[in-house]
Amino acid sequence: MLIPIHKLAFAILIPVMVAFIYFLLFFVVSSSYSTAVPSRVRQKIVIDHDGGADDVMAIFMGLLYEEYYDGPEVIALTTTHGNVDEDQVFNNTQRILTVANRRDVAIYRGSTRALIGEFPTDHFFGNDGLGDNNTDNYEPIAAQKEHAVFGLIELSKKYSDELVIVALGSLTNIALAIRIDPDFMSRLSHIYVAAGHVYGENFTEPEFNANMDVESYYIVAGSGTPEKLTIIPFSQIRLHQKISKEWRIDVLGSIDTKIMQAQNQYERLSLNVSTYWTLLDPSAMAIALDETLIVQETRYSNNSIILCGDQRGVNTNDFTTSRNDSNARVIYNVRKENYKKMLYDLFSAELRTIK
Ligand SMILES: *[C@@H]1O[C@H](CO)[C@@H](O)[C@H](O)[C@H]1NC(C)=O
Ligand SMILES: *[C@@H]1O[C@H](CO)[C@@H](O)[C@H](O)[C@H]1NC(C)=O
Ligand SMILES: *[C@@H]1O[C@H](CO)[C@@H](O)[C@H](O)[C@H]1NC(C)=O
Ligand SMILES: *[C@@H]1O[C@H](CO)[C@@H](O)[C@H](O)[C@H]1NC(C)=O
Ligand SMILES: *[C@@H]1O[C@H](CO)[C@@H](O)[C@H](O)[C@H]1NC(C)=O
Ligand SMILES: *[C@@H]1O[C@H](CO)[C@@H](O)[C@H](O)[C@H]1NC(C)=O
Repeated sequence: MLIPIHKLAFAILIPVMVAFIYFLLFFVVSSSYSTAVPSRVRQKIVIDHDGGADDVMAIFMGLLYEEYYDGPEVIALTTTHGNVDEDQVFNNTQRILTVANRRDVAIYRGSTRALIGEFPTDHFFGNDGLGDNNTDNYEPIAAQKEHAVFGLIELSKKYSDELVIVALGSLTNIALAIRIDPDFMSRLSHIYVAAGHVYGENFTEPEFNANMDVESYYIVAGSGTPEKLTIIPFSQIRLHQKISKEWRIDVLGSIDTKIMQAQNQYERLSLNVSTYWTLLDPSAMAIALDETLIVQETRYSNNSIILCGDQRGVNTNDFTTSRNDSNARVIYNVRKENYKKMLYDLFSAELRTIK
C-alpha cells in the first residue's frame, strides 16, 4: 500500500525535529550548567574549626553553597581548641548542624590543646562561643570513632585530589596529620588556612589563630607548596573588608531565615563591642568557595612564624621569593562589595528557592 507522501514526510520530520529540539536543549542546559559548575569532580570540603560564632557563619556558608549553588560537598567538620574549649566546640557543632538541618554531616573530635604551651581561651563571642543565650534544643549527634587527625588522613586517602580543607582555628589537627602522614598535604586538592597577619606598621601583634598553636602553624607553613596551601591573613581582611556594623545588623541580619536569626544570636555579644564587622572565618570561607569572585591579589611568599623570643607568634613573609621557592600563596587583597553580595545571596538563597 502506498503511503501518501505528505504523511511520510511527517512521519520522518517530526521525530527528527523532536530529536533536534532535544539536542538543542541539551546543549543550552549543559553549557549554562558548565559555567556554573566546573566539569571536574565535585570537590569535598572538611571544615576544621574552633567553635566560635565566626566559625559557625563560615560553616553555614559552606552548607548553603552546597545546597543552593551546587558547591562542594561538606563531608565533615573537625573540632579544634580555640575560641572555646574543644568540649564546647563539639557541643556547638551539634547545635548548629541541627539549626541548619544538616545532622548528616560527620563530626570528628580533635585536639584539645596546642602542641606546646597552654593558652587561655578567648571569649570574644561569649563563654559558650555563641553569644551565651542557648535556647536551641538539639538531640546529641554521635562523633565519629576516629580522632579528627586520623579522620583527616582517612578522608584525604578516600578523596585523594578532591579534598579541600578549610582551617579556621588553631592548626593542631592539621600539623599532626602532616607529621603522622608525610603524604597528607600532597593528597589534598587544597588547604585554606585562616590565620596570621602580614606583619607591618598596623599589625605587630600575633594573630589569634596562629598564636593559639605557634608550633603547628610552623609545621603547616613549612610543609606547604603554593599549589596546595593558601593562607588568608587576618590583617588583609581587616584592611580591605572593613564592613559597617549597620550593614551586618540592618541588611544581612534582617534576612528572615532560621539560620540568620540564629547567627544574629551567636554574634549578639561580639557585635555589641566592635566598631566594624570584620570576621576572618567567613571571609576565608568565601575565598575557598569562589576565589575568583573575592580575591583581588595574591602573592607568593616564604611564609612562616617566629617560634622564640618576644616576637613569638609573629608571622614572617618574604614576598620576593620566586613562585617555585615559595611555600604558600598569601591572599593579599580582597574585594569587599563582592563579598557582601555573596553573603547576602547565600543567606537569602532559601527565600528565593521554592523547594
Ligand atoms: C556539652 O553537652 C553535654 C551533653 O549535653 C553536657 O553534659 C556538657 O556539659 C556540655 N559541655 C559544655 C562544655 O557545655
Ligand atoms: C535569646 O534568644 C531568644 C530566642 O532566640 C530570644 O527570643 C531572646 O530575645 C534572646 N535573648 C537575648 C538577651 O538576646
Ligand atoms: C596603617 O593604618 C593607617 C591608618 O588606618 C593607614 O593610613 C595606613 O595605610 C596603614 N598601613 C598599611 C601598611 O596598610
Ligand atoms: C550592649 O552594650 C550596651 C552598652 O554598653 C549594654 O547596655 C547592653 O547590655 C549590651 N548588650 C549585650 C547583649 O551585651
Ligand atoms: C619553576 O618550576 C617549573 C616546573 O618545575 C619550571 O618549569 C620553571 O622553569 C621554574 N621556574 C623558575 C623561575 O625556576
Ligand atoms: C624561608 O625562610 C626561612 C626562614 O624563615 C629560611 O631559613 C629559608 O631559607 C627561606 N627559604 C627560601 C626559599 O627563601
